[in-house]
Amino acid sequence: MGAINAVTDLTAQGDVAVLTVNSPPVNALSQQVRDGIVKGMQQAIADSAVKAVVLICDGRTFIAGADITEFGKPPQSPSLHDVCDAIENSSKPVIAAIHGTALGGGLETALCCHYRVAVPSAKCGLPEVHLGLLPGAGGTQRLPRIVGPEQALQMVTSGAHVDAKTSLAAGLLDEIVPEGELRAGALAYAKKVIAEKRPLRKVRDMNEKVAAARGKPEIFADFRKANARKFRGFLAPEYNIRCIEAAVNLPFDQGIATERKLFMELMTGTQSAAQRYVFFAERQVWKVPDVPDDTATIAVKKVGIIGAGTMGGGIAMNFANIGIPVALVETKQDALDRGFGVIRKNYESTAKRGKLKPEDVEKRMALLSGSLQLESLADCDLVIEAVFENMDVKKEVFGKLDSIVKQGAILATNTSALDVNEIATATKRPDAVIGLHFFSPANVMRLLEIVRAQKTSKPVIATSMQLAKKIGKIAALVGVCPGFVGNRILYARQLQAQAMLMEGAMPWDVDKVLYDFGMPMGPFAMSDLAGLDIGWSKEKSKSSTVREVLCEMDRRGQKTGAGFYDYDAERNAKPSPVTEKIIKDFMAKAGAQARKITDQEILERCTYPMINEGAKILEEKIAIRPSDIDIVWINGYGWPVYRGGPMFYGDTVGLKNVVAKLKEYGPKLGAGFTLSPLLEQLAAEGKRFQDLK
Ligand code: 3HC
Ligand code: NAI
Repeated sequence: MGAINAVTDLTAQGDVAVLTVNSPPVNALSQQVRDGIVKGMQQAIADSAVKAVVLICDGRTFIAGADITEFGKPPQSPSLHDVCDAIENSSKPVIAAIHGTALGGGLETALCCHYRVAVPSAKCGLPEVHLGLLPGAGGTQRLPRIVGPEQALQMVTSGAHVDAKTSLAAGLLDEIVPEGELRAGALAYAKKVIAEKRPLRKVRDMNEKVAAARGKPEIFADFRKANARKFRGFLAPEYNIRCIEAAVNLPFDQGIATERKLFMELMTGTQSAAQRYVFFAERQVWKVPDVPDDTATIAVKKVGIIGAGTMGGGIAMNFANIGIPVALVETKQDALDRGFGVIRKNYESTAKRGKLKPEDVEKRMALLSGSLQLESLADCDLVIEAVFENMDVKKEVFGKLDSIVKQGAILATNTSALDVNEIATATKRPDAVIGLHFFSPANVMRLLEIVRAQKTSKPVIATSMQLAKKIGKIAALVGVCPGFVGNRILYARQLQAQAMLMEGAMPWDVDKVLYDFGMPMGPFAMSDLAGLDIGWSKEKSKSSTVREVLCEMDRRGQKTGAGFYDYDAERNAKPSPVTEKIIKDFMAKAGAQARKITDQEILERCTYPMINEGAKILEEKIAIRPSDIDIVWINGYGWPVYRGGPMFYGDTVGLKNVVAKLKEYGPKLGAGFTLSPLLEQLAAEGKRFQDLK
């Protein structure tokens, strides 16, 4: 007894051996952990004084899964299957003692134990699907044997973390022990198992629930149908479903063989590589090299928002949701009333869907106050400006704020493209000025671009990042340039999409390719949704572009029932002969010849210039790292996570191929198009964006 290796030890507690894993931060099943468990089990079994084993973890959590950093590297023995066998085939009962999260390989390990106890705050889940994988250590075969195929399907395809109470009810846990008393509770349970001579219960032998589902293929057909939209483009959900089907239809060992085969297919594929990359990118994005974790922050106890329009209202909800009071300022009472009305309607519709208690609607509304005076913002710790996108208006507002808002407060702008450095000049405290670029709808979209201006102070950055996390956003710190990261790259795509209309592609041709690629919608459908009249004015409109003509005809997008597309009463889009004629008229006027543009060209013309723009953003140090750009595009624009973001996609295609194609398209890309030297250099050196350090 004693230390087995650096991360595991075995101690005796009477006739119970306690096998403890201590491998921070999350006790992932690294080679050392696997080795320690296998050796610990061997020692415990060899020791005749031991009658039962408790498997427990130190630190913040039970085993949170396989060690993802080992994926893609040569396998090292012992495997996770060896761990599972060592536990399940033990001649002495093994009890898993769970706190924190038993996830993925961690839950699979627990499912090989003969009994499981947990504290009330513990959670169980098989989140492999989020990594483009399936549980590869028997989870797909054991889980349905306990919870039944229907619940297993839900769990493996959603990756949900199931709380202890629900897990107990589902049979995943045998007992819940008091919080903070896991070790004692597990030992007491082990002694009960010994005293009552309970059997070595193996989940693999529990066949009742899977047998009951045999001959009922509709369980799977219905599940697939109900979730088809949600799973579109992803391989992993379908592979997980197939494994549960195998659990129902095949003997255990054959089911395991199916699981292993499908797991390896996913593991070696591009989708899982992308999703694993995104897992780490989502954690990296919070790290700002020159703003360390211990940077001082500003306590934000009250937030002020100027402008209660589309963005201001949504932004306000984020803070009310976490109990921070918000003061909203408008220029006119009716605008303020309208803003409050929209917020209330949003909360009420969430309550109607059962996702918010009616009393919480009132609690949140009570946190909001409205005024027509900027003076009401004097005591705010953070003020976010969300007025019209006009530099003069913004500067005027910031100039006034300077003399009203208390010193030490953060002065933020939600501008989507204006120069934050210039806005900062309107104040005497440019160090307090930062961009907080929310995405529409601001209460829903996960992305927040935090725009660092030349003089923004580090505490202002650190506070903004911290606050973003608190309101449930994923934040990327970016620098100042037109459109910042997201919209700048969007613009690069937009230019190509529009250019192709003059070469023979129709909006729906372009949109279909991008939809099939995995985007929620293509650029033209997106414009229709956002409104074609953003930035358009009737007075200045000169029928000089397709968009201007559409707006002049009052085809301003979905809200007017027509835009690039025609819409029916249910807002279903149909290709529009009107738009087609406008495009053809423009082509005729320009003397342009229509040619057949392949889907391949549409995809390359839309995505490769995005990759090129991303490379320029890196050159200019507007983004800290390529993966931050991917986070922006996944969370702000719906880039399919299984393609890892535009930069990862570039790596997948091969930067050499991207550059070769961009050169081939040459003049078609427009007079303003230039290749990024960084992209060219990486391509010439056979490198990837991921190789940039
Ligand atoms: N392997 C390696 N590193 C991991 C890891 C894992 N499974 N899980 C988390 N980490 C690392 C993170 O990268 C992070 O590292 P950093 O500090 O250097 O950035 C650190 O642990 C802490 O992670 P979080 O910041 O996410 O900490 P939280 O406390 O917010 O969350 C958690 C903890 C809920 C456990 C969360 O980390 C998580 O969801 N982890 C992934 C769980 C998972 O997907 N498990 C399945 C793995 S695949 C598998 O098991 C295959 C099997 O079926 C064969
Ligand atoms: P909006 O027109 O819906 O709302 C702006 C509101 O500001 C109006 O209600 C107006 O009355 C009010 N306002 C104007 N001047 C004011 C002043 N001096 N004091 C107080 N209130 C004033 O506009 P929207 O869409 O909310 O945009 C606001 C800002 O957010 C803009 O800078 C825009 O570029 C940016 N943004 C917009 C996004 C969108 O999708 N709508 C996305 C991200 C950023």
